[in-house]
Amino acid sequence: MLKDRRLAVLGAGKLGETLIQGLLEAGAIDRSRVTVTTAHGPRLELVRERLGVAGTLSNAEAVQDADIVLLAVKPQQVPLVMSEIGGVLRPSQLLISVAASVSAAFIEKHLREPVPVVRAMPNTPCLIRVGMTGIAMGKHARQEHLEIARRIFEAVGRTVIADEKHMDAITALSASGPAYIYIIIESLAEAGVKVGLPRDMATELAAQTVVGAGEMVLRTGEHPAKLKDMVTTPAGCTIDGILELEDGGLRVTLIKAVVCATRRARELLES
Ligand SMILES: NC(=O)c1ccc[n+]([C@@H]2O[C@H](COP(=O)([O-])OP(=O)(O)OC[C@H]3O[C@@H](n4cnc5c(N)ncnc54)[C@H](OP(=O)(O)O)[C@@H]3O)[C@@H](O)[C@H]2O)c1
Repeated sequence: MLKDRRLAVLGAGKLGETLIQGLLEAGAIDRSRVTVTTAHGPRLELVRERLGVAGTLSNAEAVQDADIVLLAVKPQQVPLVMSEIGGVLRPSQLLISVAASVSAAFIEKHLREPVPVVRAMPNTPCLIRVGMTGIAMGKHARQEHLEIARRIFEAVGRTVIADEKHMDAITALSASGPAYIYIIIESLAEAGVKVGLPRDMATELAAQTVVGAGEMVLRTGEHPAKLKDMVTTPAGCTIDGILELEDGGLRVTLIKAVVCATRRARELLES
């Protein structure tokens, strides 16, 4: 279904390129039907060469023949790009925006016609098809549009369908989340080095432990606290480690990180 659609990715930066790469590797899209845009020529050349797709510096030209338009510029660039494409887009096309902080209503304000808009919030593990994407519908989008967006992002990971009011929270949790987890992996690896493990081994142990723990939560459907209790033998060593984590405020720190990032996600467009 996706393979016969023409896809235009406006703003093929880190995330845009990641998504195209993931979709190509999943065999979900055909590179001959993909067109990308960037702001600068050298970046465009690089992406065209790396992905083997068509490219132009004109957003209006890129969307002309597209069935699906993926808006992947920074939030601050959205008003400019929408002023270029708002009068060109047609209701037969689908506009998917991954821009943090930018509401579907904001995008719809720039459209001349009732073009369906879907908001999506993916994360960078989409590159290796273990992404997590929250998806929400705009005013003119119907179930079929949600379904197309879902297929795109399911090709590169998991999806959840969300109410649009939750998109800033999703941005702060799962889109920013990999950065938090990298810090946790880095810290666990450092800890491994401190207690005598070779660095490579410590990093592998830490990373695979994060993968395994995440998979346990997803596959068993158990509450994380119950899974934690399964690891924590009375008077064993895990409880000593947990005591240190509680003393250091790991829980509160993580909660505050997501709360602060959610607040920031609300104001990105204005900054
Ligand atoms: N990074 C993430 O993990 C992540 C996750 C979820 C959502 N997002 C969202 O994805 C969007 C892009 O983020 P990013 O990290 O990929 O940023 P990025 O690497 O800076 O990419 C933005 C791209 O947009 C291009 N661009 C700027 N102005 C343009 C214009 N007027 N027309 C066409 N292209 C233009 C830039 O081109 P040049 O390179 O030529 O300047 C650049 O390649 C943001 O809205 C962000 O909120 C990101």
